[in-house]
Amino acid sequence: MEKKELLYEGKAKKVFTTEDPDVLIVSYKDDATAFDGQKKGTIVGKGAINNRMTNHVFRLLEKEGVPTHLVEELNDRETAVKKVEIVPLEVIIRNFSAGSFAKKMGMEEGILLKCPTLEFSYKNDDLHDPFINSYYALALDLATQEEIDVISKYAFKVNEVMRDYFAGLGIELIDFKIEFGRFHGEIILADEVSPDTCRLWDKETHEKLDKDRFRRDLGNVEDAYQEVFKRLGIQ
Ligand code: TMP
Repeated sequence: MEKKELLYEGKAKKVFTTEDPDVLIVSYKDDATAFDGQKKGTIVGKGAINNRMTNHVFRLLEKEGVPTHLVEELNDRETAVKKVEIVPLEVIIRNFSAGSFAKKMGMEEGILLKCPTLEFSYKNDDLHDPFINSYYALALDLATQEEIDVISKYAFKVNEVMRDYFAGLGIELIDFKIEFGRFHGEIILADEVSPDTCRLWDKETHEKLDKDRFRRDLGNVEDAYQEVFKRLGIQ
Protein backbone atom coordinates (compact mmCIF):
# COMPACT_ATOMS: atom_id res chain seq x y z
CA MET A 1 0.00 0.00 0.00
CA GLU A 2 1.50 3.34 -1.12
CA LYS A 3 0.67 6.94 -0.26
CA LYS A 4 -0.55 8.98 -3.23
CA GLU A 5 -1.59 12.54 -2.38
CA LEU A 6 -1.82 14.44 0.87
CA LEU A 7 -5.57 14.74 1.42
CA TYR A 8 -5.57 16.57 4.73
CA GLU A 9 -3.19 17.64 7.46
CA GLY A 10 -4.64 17.87 10.93
CA LYS A 11 -3.06 18.85 14.22
CA ALA A 12 -1.68 15.40 15.03
CA LYS A 13 -1.97 13.42 11.80
CA LYS A 14 -1.60 13.62 8.05
CA VAL A 15 -3.97 11.72 5.81
CA PHE A 16 -3.03 10.46 2.35
CA THR A 17 -5.03 8.92 -0.47
CA THR A 18 -4.07 5.53 -1.91
CA GLU A 19 -4.85 3.74 -5.16
CA ASP A 20 -7.89 2.23 -3.39
CA PRO A 21 -10.69 4.85 -3.12
CA ASP A 22 -11.96 3.12 0.03
CA VAL A 23 -8.58 3.24 1.82
CA LEU A 24 -6.52 6.10 3.23
CA ILE A 25 -3.15 6.11 4.97
CA VAL A 26 -2.86 8.06 8.23
CA SER A 27 0.57 9.22 9.34
CA TYR A 28 0.86 10.17 13.01
CA LYS A 29 2.99 13.21 13.88
CA ASP A 30 4.90 14.09 17.04
CA ASP A 31 3.19 17.51 17.02
CA ALA A 32 0.99 18.27 19.98
CA THR A 33 -1.55 21.03 20.40
CA ALA A 34 -3.95 22.03 23.12
CA PHE A 35 -6.70 24.59 23.60
CA ASP A 36 -7.81 24.50 19.94
CA GLY A 37 -4.29 24.74 18.66
CA GLN A 38 -3.31 27.82 20.71
CA LYS A 39 -0.64 25.84 22.56
CA LYS A 40 1.82 24.04 20.31
CA GLY A 41 4.67 21.68 20.98
CA THR A 42 6.35 18.40 20.15
CA ILE A 43 6.19 15.16 22.07
CA VAL A 44 9.11 13.10 20.77
CA GLY A 45 8.03 9.56 19.88
CA LYS A 46 4.31 10.31 20.27
CA GLY A 47 3.40 9.60 16.64
CA ALA A 48 4.68 6.04 16.75
CA ILE A 49 3.21 5.36 20.20
CA ASN A 50 -0.23 6.71 19.28
CA ASN A 51 -0.25 4.79 16.00
CA ARG A 52 0.72 1.48 17.55
CA MET A 53 -1.45 1.91 20.63
CA THR A 54 -4.52 2.83 18.57
CA ASN A 55 -4.10 -0.22 16.36
CA HIS A 56 -3.53 -2.50 19.34
CA VAL A 57 -6.67 -1.25 21.10
CA PHE A 58 -8.71 -1.28 17.87
CA ARG A 59 -7.80 -4.98 17.32
CA LEU A 60 -9.00 -5.70 20.84
CA LEU A 61 -12.23 -3.79 20.24
CA GLU A 62 -12.86 -5.58 16.93
CA LYS A 63 -12.67 -8.90 18.82
CA GLU A 64 -15.28 -7.55 21.24
CA GLY A 65 -17.68 -6.61 18.43
CA VAL A 66 -16.88 -2.94 17.85
CA PRO A 67 -16.12 -2.35 14.14
CA THR A 68 -13.21 0.02 13.45
CA HIS A 69 -11.55 1.69 10.48
CA LEU A 70 -8.33 -0.33 10.88
CA VAL A 71 -7.10 -2.04 7.71
CA GLU A 72 -3.39 -2.62 8.26
CA GLU A 73 -0.49 -1.19 10.26
CA LEU A 74 2.13 -0.27 7.66
CA ASN A 75 4.98 0.87 9.89
CA ASP A 76 5.63 2.62 13.21
CA ARG A 77 3.80 5.79 12.23
CA GLU A 78 1.54 4.82 9.36
CA THR A 79 -1.64 2.81 9.10
CA ALA A 80 -4.04 2.03 6.28
CA VAL A 81 -7.61 2.77 7.31
CA LYS A 82 -11.05 2.66 5.75
CA LYS A 83 -12.03 6.00 4.24
CA VAL A 84 -14.95 7.14 6.34
CA GLU A 85 -17.05 10.25 6.47
CA ILE A 86 -16.40 11.47 10.00
CA VAL A 87 -19.51 12.12 12.10
CA PRO A 88 -18.73 15.62 13.43
CA LEU A 89 -19.20 14.65 17.06
CA GLU A 90 -16.58 14.15 19.75
CA VAL A 91 -17.97 11.37 21.92
CA ILE A 92 -16.69 11.62 25.47
CA ILE A 93 -17.12 8.99 28.15
CA ARG A 94 -16.16 9.64 31.76
CA ASN A 95 -15.68 7.18 34.62
CA PHE A 96 -14.13 9.66 37.07
CA SER A 97 -14.40 13.44 37.44
CA ALA A 98 -11.62 15.31 35.64
CA GLY A 99 -10.95 18.13 33.21
CA SER A 100 -13.89 20.19 31.99
CA PHE A 101 -16.39 18.02 33.90
CA ALA A 102 -14.65 18.60 37.25
CA LYS A 103 -14.49 22.33 36.53
CA LYS A 104 -18.12 22.58 35.44
CA MET A 105 -19.41 20.54 38.37
CA GLY A 106 -17.14 22.19 40.94
CA MET A 107 -15.57 18.85 41.85
CA GLU A 108 -12.08 17.68 42.58
CA GLU A 109 -10.56 15.44 39.94
CA GLY A 110 -10.50 11.68 40.44
CA ILE A 111 -13.91 11.14 42.07
CA LEU A 112 -15.49 7.87 40.86
CA LEU A 113 -18.84 8.62 39.20
CA LYS A 114 -21.84 6.50 40.13
CA CYS A 115 -22.06 5.42 36.50
CA PRO A 116 -20.20 6.37 33.33
CA THR A 117 -21.37 9.50 31.49
CA LEU A 118 -21.60 10.07 27.76
CA GLU A 119 -21.50 13.50 26.19
CA PHE A 120 -21.15 14.99 22.73
CA SER A 121 -19.18 17.96 21.50
CA TYR A 122 -19.75 19.42 18.07
CA LYS A 123 -16.41 19.08 16.23
CA ASN A 124 -15.75 22.68 15.30
CA ASP A 125 -12.52 24.41 16.36
CA ASP A 126 -13.84 27.89 15.54
CA LEU A 127 -16.65 27.34 18.06
CA HIS A 128 -14.25 25.52 20.47
CA ASP A 129 -16.03 22.15 20.11
CA PRO A 130 -19.17 23.19 22.04
CA PHE A 131 -20.99 20.71 24.29
CA ILE A 132 -24.24 19.63 22.63
CA ASN A 133 -26.92 17.03 23.30
CA SER A 134 -28.49 14.54 20.91
CA TYR A 135 -31.37 16.94 20.09
CA TYR A 136 -28.84 19.50 18.82
CA ALA A 137 -27.12 16.76 16.80
CA LEU A 138 -30.46 15.85 15.19
CA ALA A 139 -31.56 19.46 14.67
CA LEU A 140 -28.25 20.39 13.06
CA ASP A 141 -28.36 17.21 10.95
CA LEU A 142 -25.01 15.99 12.29
CA ALA A 143 -26.32 12.42 12.72
CA THR A 144 -29.57 10.47 12.62
CA GLN A 145 -31.26 9.04 15.72
CA GLU A 146 -30.25 5.53 14.58
CA GLU A 147 -26.64 6.65 14.26
CA ILE A 148 -26.71 8.31 17.67
CA ASP A 149 -28.08 5.09 19.19
CA VAL A 150 -25.37 2.96 17.57
CA ILE A 151 -22.64 5.45 18.50
CA SER A 152 -23.80 5.51 22.13
CA LYS A 153 -23.96 1.71 22.31
CA TYR A 154 -20.47 1.32 20.85
CA ALA A 155 -19.06 4.11 23.05
CA PHE A 156 -20.17 2.37 26.27
CA LYS A 157 -18.83 -0.92 24.93
CA VAL A 158 -15.48 0.72 24.15
CA ASN A 159 -15.47 2.00 27.73
CA GLU A 160 -16.11 -1.45 29.20
CA VAL A 161 -13.41 -3.11 27.11
CA MET A 162 -10.81 -0.39 27.64
CA ARG A 163 -11.50 0.06 31.35
CA ASP A 164 -10.91 -3.65 31.98
CA TYR A 165 -7.92 -3.80 29.66
CA PHE A 166 -6.16 -0.78 31.20
CA ALA A 167 -6.99 -1.96 34.72
CA GLY A 168 -4.94 -5.06 33.93
CA LEU A 169 -2.00 -2.78 33.12
CA GLY A 170 -2.35 -0.89 36.41
CA ILE A 171 -3.98 2.07 34.67
CA GLU A 172 -7.27 3.77 35.60
CA LEU A 173 -9.26 4.93 32.55
CA ILE A 174 -10.53 8.28 33.82
CA ASP A 175 -12.19 9.46 30.60
CA PHE A 176 -11.67 9.49 26.85
CA LYS A 177 -12.83 10.95 23.55
CA ILE A 178 -13.60 8.89 20.45
CA GLU A 179 -14.90 9.62 16.98
CA PHE A 180 -16.97 7.59 14.58
CA GLY A 181 -17.31 7.52 10.79
CA ARG A 182 -19.70 6.28 8.15
CA PHE A 183 -18.39 3.57 5.84
CA HIS A 184 -20.82 2.33 3.19
CA GLY A 185 -23.71 3.22 5.49
CA GLU A 186 -22.28 1.58 8.62
CA ILE A 187 -21.04 3.38 11.73
CA ILE A 188 -17.48 2.36 12.63
CA LEU A 189 -14.95 3.60 15.17
CA ALA A 190 -12.38 5.93 13.56
CA ASP A 191 -9.64 8.39 14.59
CA GLU A 192 -7.46 7.22 17.49
CA VAL A 193 -7.28 5.98 21.07
CA SER A 194 -4.08 7.18 22.72
CA PRO A 195 -2.70 9.24 25.61
CA ASP A 196 -3.72 12.26 23.46
CA THR A 197 -7.38 11.29 23.68
CA CYS A 198 -7.69 9.43 27.00
CA ARG A 199 -6.97 10.37 30.59
CA LEU A 200 -4.90 7.52 31.99
CA TRP A 201 -3.78 7.55 35.63
CA ASP A 202 -1.51 5.08 37.36
CA LYS A 203 -3.86 3.06 39.56
CA GLU A 204 -1.57 3.16 42.60
CA THR A 205 0.05 6.60 42.50
CA HIS A 206 -2.61 8.43 40.43
CA GLU A 207 0.22 9.85 38.36
CA LYS A 208 -1.10 11.28 35.08
CA LEU A 209 0.14 9.23 32.10
CA ASP A 210 -1.48 11.28 29.33
CA LYS A 211 -1.61 14.56 27.44
CA ASP A 212 -2.65 16.52 30.53
CA ARG A 213 1.10 16.55 31.29
CA PHE A 214 1.51 18.65 28.11
CA ARG A 215 -1.71 20.68 28.49
CA ARG A 216 -0.84 21.62 32.07
CA ASP A 217 2.97 21.83 31.78
CA LEU A 218 3.49 19.05 34.32
CA GLY A 219 6.79 17.87 32.80
CA ASN A 220 7.94 14.32 31.91
CA VAL A 221 5.53 14.26 28.98
CA GLU A 222 7.56 11.83 26.84
CA ASP A 223 8.15 9.57 29.86
CA ALA A 224 4.40 9.29 30.44
CA TYR A 225 3.72 8.24 26.83
CA GLN A 226 6.62 5.76 26.97
CA GLU A 227 5.32 4.32 30.25
CA VAL A 228 1.88 3.63 28.77
CA PHE A 229 3.50 2.12 25.67
CA LYS A 230 5.76 -0.08 27.81
CA ARG A 231 2.79 -1.42 29.77
CA LEU A 232 1.00 -2.37 26.54
CA GLY A 233 3.81 -4.86 25.98
CA ILE A 234 3.86 -4.45 22.20
CA GLN A 235 7.42 -3.16 21.66
P1 TMP B 1 -12.32 17.44 28.86
O1 TMP B 1 -12.40 17.04 30.29
O2 TMP B 1 -11.32 18.54 28.60
O3 TMP B 1 -13.68 17.75 28.29
O4 TMP B 1 -11.75 16.17 28.05
C1 TMP B 1 -12.42 14.94 28.07
C2 TMP B 1 -11.59 13.89 27.36
O5 TMP B 1 -11.47 14.20 25.98
C3 TMP B 1 -10.16 13.74 27.86
O6 TMP B 1 -9.84 12.36 27.92
C4 TMP B 1 -9.32 14.42 26.84
C5 TMP B 1 -10.10 14.27 25.58
N1 TMP B 1 -9.98 15.38 24.67
C6 TMP B 1 -9.59 15.17 23.36
O7 TMP B 1 -9.30 14.04 22.97
N2 TMP B 1 -9.52 16.24 22.53
C7 TMP B 1 -9.83 17.51 22.92
O8 TMP B 1 -9.73 18.44 22.12
C8 TMP B 1 -10.25 17.71 24.29
C9 TMP B 1 -10.59 19.08 24.78
C10 TMP B 1 -10.32 16.62 25.11
